[in-house]
Amino acid sequence: MKKILNTVTATLVGTVISFNVFAVASVELDQANTDITDKKSLQNGARLFMNYCAGCHSIKFMRYNRIGKDLDIADEDIEKNFIFGNEKIGSPITSAMSVEGAAKWFGTTPPDLSLVSRSKGVDWIYTYLRGFYKDEERIFGVNNHVLENASMPDVLWSLKQNKSSEAFDQDVRDITNFLDYVGEPAKLIRTELGYKVLGFLFILFILSYLLKKEYWKDVKYGKWRAKD
Ligand code: HEC
Repeated sequence: MKKILNTVTATLVGTVISFNVFAVASVELDQANTDITDKKSLQNGARLFMNYCAGCHSIKFMRYNRIGKDLDIADEDIEKNFIFGNEKIGSPITSAMSVEGAAKWFGTTPPDLSLVSRSKGVDWIYTYLRGFYKDEERIFGVNNHVLENASMPDVLWSLKQNKSSEAFDQDVRDITNFLDYVGEPAKLIRTELGYKVLGFLFILFILSYLLKKEYWKDVKYGKWRAKD
């Protein structure tokens, strides 16, 4: 029995290790260091996303008004700065680009980014967006270190102008942070709620302990003892 268990454990450990080896890409990823509790960063990220990314990418699991509610942006601001077509404030955030157009221009459809932070991770997105380099062989004149032969142009090049590299990195961090939030909006609530629940359990523990002491006060050595 022990032998079988050992074999099973060894196989499982082996599988996990080999998956990890597989997961480590050939490029080294920079740390995104995003902070989902930073509202300013999320607001800036949302604004940048709408201006630089939403033309091609949808985030169709997210609605405009949910962003407004979660990130404290007024409905009028959302309508003025976030919605470019004739979409309603309660609509999911789709892209204006047609599938046929995308296929013609890029050879592929820009994927929906609702869950990209879950599938690729924030470090990947952060490094990818900063990883464009000149390559005249490609149609848009750029290639990418992280996603070799990516058919996405370097859309942030204009943002990079007249900016220190720290300021640019912060902007990219904000966009990445925003995509992290989009991937799991409940993260904003659940981490905060987690602390409250732990606090509640702690207080409950103290009360239960005092109650237990009270109940057991009259019992000594496991035997009932009359009150003194
Ligand atoms: C001009 C259209 C266009 C714009 C604007 C654009 N992208 Fe892209 N993006 C693409 C295309 C096309 C791909 C597919 C690349 C490929 O697979 O070769 C892509 C791929 C991606 C991917 C990889 C997704 C995956 O799962 O492989 C991410 C992440 C991404 N874009 C993020 C962004 C962000 C963030 C912005 C805004 C700063 C942005 N994109 C702006 C066209 C665009």
